Amino acid sequence: MKLKRILKWSAGIILLALIMWFQVAYWTSTNDCDHKTAAPNNPMKAITYCDYGLANLKLETIDKPTPNDDQVLVRVRAASVNPYDWHFVEGTPKIMRAMGVGLRKPKDTRLGVDFAGTATGSVALKPASIAFEQAASANIAGITALQAVRDKGKLGPGQKVLINGASGGVGTFAVQIAKSLGADVTGVCSTRNVDLVRSLGADHVIDYTKEDFAKGTERYDAILDNVPNHTLSECRRVLSPKGKYVLIGGGGPNDSRWIGPFGRIIKTMVLSPFISQEMGMMMADTSQKDLTILADLMQSGKVKPVIDRTYKLSEVPAAIAYVEEGHARGKVIITID
Ligand SMILES: NC(=O)c1ccc[n+]([C@@H]2O[C@H](COP(=O)([O-])OP(=O)(O)OC[C@H]3O[C@@H](n4cnc5c(N)ncnc54)[C@H](OP(=O)(O)O)[C@@H]3O)[C@@H](O)[C@H]2O)c1
Repeated sequence: MKLKRILKWSAGIILLALIMWFQVAYWTSTNDCDHKTAAPNNPMKAITYCDYGLANLKLETIDKPTPNDDQVLVRVRAASVNPYDWHFVEGTPKIMRAMGVGLRKPKDTRLGVDFAGTATGSVALKPASIAFEQAASANIAGITALQAVRDKGKLGPGQKVLINGASGGVGTFAVQIAKSLGADVTGVCSTRNVDLVRSLGADHVIDYTKEDFAKGTERYDAILDNVPNHTLSECRRVLSPKGKYVLIGGGGPNDSRWIGPFGRIIKTMVLSPFISQEMGMMMADTSQKDLTILADLMQSGKVKPVIDRTYKLSEVPAAIAYVEEGHARGKVIITID
């Protein structure tokens, strides 16, 4: 009885401490917006956001950053937008905020991961034949596709891969990279993208508005899932006994605003040890080596970035809103004058 009471009190105290810690952490969560100087000494244009939400994006003149010894300063000529960016703008899934992104306000007030430009040190050399817009499209989407096809799907000649979401940023790279490795590629997309996906080299295209790949008779050696809109058991049904399921996408605008794709990630991890098929998720690891491999693939013409729309720097909010809809055709690019 006494032990029960001690445990009950301890749990209550821990919970109260956690709530208080959360309250303090929430209200002290801040960013550099309050310390901005009126007139930057060394000005540059940037899109910034002091609070979460698309409506809070601003085109501003800020001070040019000074690189440390292990950094380079890049004069950005073009950038591209990824679903990654709107996750940060919206601060969703909200669990991200507690994982270091900023509880009440975004810690880092600047945006963007993909860029191409000129640098005083080398990041990865852009082949001369590739435009800045094409180079800017390759980082996140291209590297994700390369690592999904080569390292997670382990695809080689003749192996059958299904790419769900074949017409988006990752999908358009994945179709071409899988083809360059000799795989037999099936791409899943909507009617308006069937010709595009076929033109990228897909051997078979499934129009998801007319046919459900999970009800088909084909069995695949790997499924690269950019749009996890089928249950894991539905996906397993069309995988060969030793097939690999690679969860890439998740956290779409319709997913839980609190935990996003984490529920599905946990399910794949729990299931995998008990079945013959390999179920797993991937996180792209942006490495200079893989960026150089992509540059070579682009230079040789084996991979051609698909550019959907181009926006100006001042139009970044519209570009992110477009990507957030989840129907980009290839990559969305930001050009910088
Ligand atoms: N794990 C990682 O490291 C990593 C890295 C990059 C991206 N991601 C994630 O991967 C996902 C895809 O990224 P992305 O850059 O390719 O996104 P994206 O460029 O926004 O592409 C979304 C694509 O999904 C297609 N789509 C929508 N509903 C579909 C459905 N029911 N069936 C099949 N296709 C459908 C759309 O085609 P239609 O217009 O034809 O519908 C569109 O082309 C996102 O969730 C992103 O957050 C993960």
